[in-house]
Amino acid sequence: MSDLDELIKWFDGKRASDPVWEDEKTGTWHIFGYAEATSALADHGTFSSDLSDVLEKLLPDRADYDALTRGNILIMDPPDHNKLRKLVSKGFTPRFVAELAPRIEGIVKDLFDRMRDAGEIDLVADFAYPLPVTVIAELLGTPAADHHLFEEWAERLIANADGSTAVRQSDVMLTVARTIGEMSAYVQEHLRERRTNPRDDLISRLAVAEADGQRLADEEIGGLVSMLLRAGHLTTTLLIGNIAALLSAHPDTAALLRREEGLLSPAIEETLRHRPSVITVMRRTAKDAVFDGRTIPAGRMVTIWIGSANRDERRFPNPHDFDVRRQPNQHLSFALGGHFCLGAPLARLEAKIAMRAMLGQWREMSVGPDAEFYDPKHFVGAKRLPLAVDWV
Ligand code: HEM
Repeated sequence: MSDLDELIKWFDGKRASDPVWEDEKTGTWHIFGYAEATSALADHGTFSSDLSDVLEKLLPDRADYDALTRGNILIMDPPDHNKLRKLVSKGFTPRFVAELAPRIEGIVKDLFDRMRDAGEIDLVADFAYPLPVTVIAELLGTPAADHHLFEEWAERLIANADGSTAVRQSDVMLTVARTIGEMSAYVQEHLRERRTNPRDDLISRLAVAEADGQRLADEEIGGLVSMLLRAGHLTTTLLIGNIAALLSAHPDTAALLRREEGLLSPAIEETLRHRPSVITVMRRTAKDAVFDGRTIPAGRMVTIWIGSANRDERRFPNPHDFDVRRQPNQHLSFALGGHFCLGAPLARLEAKIAMRAMLGQWREMSVGPDAEFYDPKHFVGAKRLPLAVDWV
């Protein structure tokens, strides 16, 4: 049984016995049920995202702490969260994202051409990893000559991301904070330049955007933009790898999708439900949270298991089946409520273009035996995905 299957079995048991459960060894609470997870995600007053004191302990140096927290909307509560989110939403509109389609198609075509020439494929290294980094660099409007910087930053942000190595968590956070700091300084340079020479890119939009009549400090915008790489890279890489792995395991579904283009988007939603790249989100209770007979006291860390909520039989019939015709399919893989993933339209677009290319260019695909996966308690997806394919 794979690590992921074991985790899913644990979820099944917990949902049946303790959908809201305290791990007495650590004092952390865990939420497994769909109804419980949705009510926690929707209630920011009780389930706070402000984890700054945990980060303060991990990053004693003020400069590192500031680099990681300034503009980082993931760990903010209202009203600061609303202000920054409104601002980034102004630049990152669904229309702006949709207009990126031809550029994403171009990047996908180049990567496929290279895979065809190379012969052997590791879908992660050759495709799923470079695609989202390049897309983020393009969306920001940075020069192609600087894309290698994004690759280096992405590499450092991902190193030891799943906690499966012996590296201490404080060292991992330090690397992340310093990388974000470097990227933020780079973005701030471009912000200044865009104020004199605006273009149609996200940095130019943010350079002039105002939130509630106020301009944000450049350090805040720098932090906000750097977060896009942190939030949007590995997550999308994993989704694309998961699509390839599921298509390889379900050739009949792949054949169906080749016939019915209209099922591509539902198939991406089902992949997200079945294999959520982000399997948990963390919150802290700002006050007591009451669930059907169980109370989580104020001030406690709470792990909301998206991966379990997505398999809740009370919400999804036959939850373990991979069913691309599943309707409705309101999974929680992009979370819900005020922190709902801002990059969801972009991730969906990249995934759709990638999936169309895989189905169109490969008659068959099969994952090799030496695939490697992240520890599923942290992320669901492949680190390395050797793939044998039959080119059209
Ligand atoms: C398959 C791909 C992705 C998945 C599964 C994913 C998942 C998530 C989840 C679960 C959250 C909520 C975290 C929380 O509530 O604590 C989130 C937030 C966020 N995501 Fe994504 N994400 C993906 C791709 C992206 C992309 C491509 C971008 C941008 C380039 C992005 C930017 C963000 C941002 C800015 C937030 C913070 C929103 C806020 O706090 O208001 N994500 N994402």
